[in-house]
Amino acid sequence: MAQLWGGRFTKATDQMVYDFNASISFDKRLYKQDIEGSLAHVKMLAKQGILTEEERDAIIDGLNGILADVENGALSITSEYEDIHSFVEANLTARIGDAGKKLHTGRSRNDQVALDMRMYVRDAVKETDRLLKELLKVLYRIMEENTDTFMPGFTHLQKAQPVTLAHHIGAYFEMFKRDRSRLADLYKRMNYCPLGAGALAGTTYPLDRDYTAELLGFDGPTLNSMDSVSDRDYVIEYLSALSTIMMHLSRFSEEIILWNSNEYQFVEIDDAYSTGSSIMPQKKNPDIAELVRGKTGRVYASLMGMLTTMKGIPLAYNKDMQEDKEGTFDAIDTVNSCLPLFTGMLDTMKFNKDVMEASAKNGFTNATDVADYLVNHGVPFRDAHSISGRLVLRCIEENKALDDLTLDEFRSESSVFEEDIYDAISMKTCVEKRLTKGAPGEAAMREVLESYKEYLSGH
Ligand code: ARG
Repeated sequence: MAQLWGGRFTKATDQMVYDFNASISFDKRLYKQDIEGSLAHVKMLAKQGILTEEERDAIIDGLNGILADVENGALSITSEYEDIHSFVEANLTARIGDAGKKLHTGRSRNDQVALDMRMYVRDAVKETDRLLKELLKVLYRIMEENTDTFMPGFTHLQKAQPVTLAHHIGAYFEMFKRDRSRLADLYKRMNYCPLGAGALAGTTYPLDRDYTAELLGFDGPTLNSMDSVSDRDYVIEYLSALSTIMMHLSRFSEEIILWNSNEYQFVEIDDAYSTGSSIMPQKKNPDIAELVRGKTGRVYASLMGMLTTMKGIPLAYNKDMQEDKEGTFDAIDTVNSCLPLFTGMLDTMKFNKDVMEASAKNGFTNATDVADYLVNHGVPFRDAHSISGRLVLRCIEENKALDDLTLDEFRSESSVFEEDIYDAISMKTCVEKRLTKGAPGEAAMREVLESYKEYLSGH
């Protein structure tokens, strides 16, 4: 048992208590942030005359040595230490002697862990953002190639109106673009340095908190020491953003699973991203999409867990907050592994354009356009709606598409119909006429794609 306290205690800690209390098994992944934070702290202490330059240099060398040895495998982080902070300090003192014991001057593990976690989350946010951008690039490519690939658009999972594949994929582009802006937004809010808050009430040493904040790439120091050690809002905001990303990935997965089914056959997932069945030889299962959809639950669980952990905590630090780590790490690992897998699956997926187009033609998705044709010829919309509805009914009975009706059949419902009805309700016209901003018409879509191109080159 290697712990940083004990002076006031008369008995050794019970082993079960020690194990229950220890966090090394999971906070060991903060080793890099812990050492970086300590390097900045010690530079500041020397600048302020609290440590000598020799002490500073010895500590810096020692810390860099520990970092290098952990990374090259010479030093492993084992459970004989209570937490990552104890591990670093014990190893430092073992390496450089008494100077190592001065590292913790003017610092508490409370501001130390607050800093480590913030820096870890900050890096994770950047990685999530990078992975989202990779996904957006693939979406952009698919859109570029499919501005005239017709498919049915659905409401209530019923064929509604024809759209294009570019338009459908573009909906996800918007979602993941918003996800990136959520990350940028929370990053801005979280990027303040809690180091120097001490246990809760700052310290009597003349620390330069602006200096450490700057050394560590923060926009400045936090402004209330009690809040600094007990704020985990940024974890909650990040988990919430991660949950939203998973919700988006899950919706997309659900569509891909449907589209990949025998009934739809809109897409074929590449062999590299599907799996077989142990009993049914014909099967090729969309496991990756299903797992992504399934893993959404554990990311939501981390958000719920964190919100619940924080809800009853009085100021300032309480040990409950040690529970901020495992769920957060799990959510980060989950999202940051789902994203590249999903991107790869999408990038290699085959779109069966003919099947999509045939499906759009079969579902009376141009019934609105029949009604619009009548409206353009002076028929009130409500009457036009019912004329078109009767034509659809007839087509259902005769098992054909609206386009298959003869002009006489059209005219049996309204004498307004002329030969140009066929052109007016062709799939091409139906989509291309939809030119409102954000609609699937090719010209409208091209404008949006232009702005996406600029967006991807800029951020
Ligand atoms: N392992 C602790 C955590 O993760 C570090 C801070 C401990 N502070 C304390 N006063 N016991 O929160």
